[in-house]
Amino acid sequence: KLEAVIFDLDGVITDTAHFHFIAWQKIAGEIGIEIDEQFNEQLKGISRLDSLHRILVHGGKRFDYSTEQIAQLAEHKNQIYVALLDQLSPAAILPGISNLLKELRQQRIRIGLASVSRNAPQVLAALGLTNQFDFCADANKIQHSKPDPEIFLTACSGLEIEPSHAIGIEDAQAGIEAIKASGMLAIGVGQALTHTDWLIPSTQYLNLNALQALWKRHVA
Ligand code: G6P
Ligand code: MG
Repeated sequence: KLEAVIFDLDGVITDTAHFHFIAWQKIAGEIGIEIDEQFNEQLKGISRLDSLHRILVHGGKRFDYSTEQIAQLAEHKNQIYVALLDQLSPAAILPGISNLLKELRQQRIRIGLASVSRNAPQVLAALGLTNQFDFCADANKIQHSKPDPEIFLTACSGLEIEPSHAIGIEDAQAGIEAIKASGMLAIGVGQALTHTDWLIPSTQYLNLNALQALWKRHVA
């Protein structure tokens, strides 16, 4: 039986994935590195410092910055990102999400959050969703980033359910790998994701009926 649904935040519940991209593009541009939306796919679901590392490698500048300079660049990126969060309101919740949260709650299916963003509490608050989650995995307590399953496993234990009784929803390839490695079913939101159990181009296709149908196809 489906007992829990665990959501990624950026790019699934709201389009902050685009804000992360805008902020990284600005920082990268300032140090002479160009990044496009296609490269950005590799940054989705990846922690702040790991993202910066990938950008530096991409630009051939891996060894050009000290640890301190790297920390400054990451901090500057975060300032740009946090300023963009001012635009967020409940209107920025992606299509289908509010309705799915309501249906899950009505059916007493538990709701979890698995985001490595240190800004997750602020984003949820701006969307008015803070109280909608039964458990949010705390990014500060995670040792291994996605694609490691740790954050999804932490969410499952916080919800007191087995991963084999849960579905995860992700827009990042690293996130899909993390969900699969945890033993959950994976819904991918996007275009070019692989290893999903169900791939949809938009969150508008999410609803409880569709999730139960997916569950029956793969589990029952
Ligand atoms: C999520 C996003 C990433 C972001 C990471 C860290 O995983 O998909 O793009 O880099 O969170 O976010 P933070 O807000 O802590 O910089
Ligand atoms: Mg995401």
